[in-house]
Amino acid sequence: MDQQDLKIKTARLILRPFQPQDAQALFELNSDPDVMRYTGDRPFVDAAEASDFINQYRETEDPGFGRMAVTNAQDGEFMGFCGLKRDAKTREIDLGFRFFRRHWAKGIATEAAAASLDAGFSRLGLSEITGRAMRENLASITVLQKLGMRFKEISESAGLIWLVYSISAQEYSGQSRPDRDPRAR
Ligand SMILES: CC(C)(COP(=O)(O)OP(=O)(O)OC[C@H]1O[C@@H](n2cnc3c(N)ncnc32)[C@H](O)[C@@H]1OP(=O)(O)O)[C@@H](O)C(=O)NCCC(=O)NCCS
Repeated sequence: MDQQDLKIKTARLILRPFQPQDAQALFELNSDPDVMRYTGDRPFVDAAEASDFINQYRETEDPGFGRMAVTNAQDGEFMGFCGLKRDAKTREIDLGFRFFRRHWAKGIATEAAAASLDAGFSRLGLSEITGRAMRENLASITVLQKLGMRFKEISESAGLIWLVYSISAQEYSGQSRPDRDPRAR
């Protein structure tokens, strides 16, 4: 897969691998306590740490895997990130998303995440994709449910309670999605 193949386009968005020039925006995204509240992550110390993260990420993530920068298809603005992270040990695939507050409640996460799921099943041939959200994170849980994911289990890590959702390739291919014309099946 070359870099072009890694891009995912939707009606309003382009998802692409992180680039070094995203460091400042990624630092700012992770500096908002409202954005970070239910992520379990800590903010970057500065843009240089975000830059180190991006460089390391570009080297270690397999093509098609890892969170991707989500940009505005019109003007290229970095809006946040979304994508499929593969756990090095368990090989579990985790769908995740995070956006600047100014972009919330416009369906952006759902649009980006639906495209990530589609790429995961149709391009990467995955058999199952999981998503997890803290039980207080109602917006995130709503997005996972809107994608057709089903509640699977509760997991606890570092004293935090997470609700785990998942969807299999079979469930995904059987679900009716608004972006698909039923007459085409
Ligand atoms: C979670 C997050 C990605 C959602 O992004 P978004 O672009 O606003 O999501 P969408 O607009 O696609 O969908 C959000 C849905 O949640 C619903 N929602 C939002 N707040 C809610 C709440 N408090 N209770 C119930 N539903 C809520 C919205 O109404 C919407 O559903 P609808 O389209 O049926 O009306 C965004 O809030 C975010 O970046 N949060 C910080 C990072 C984070 O928590 N990431 C997830 C970690 S697991």
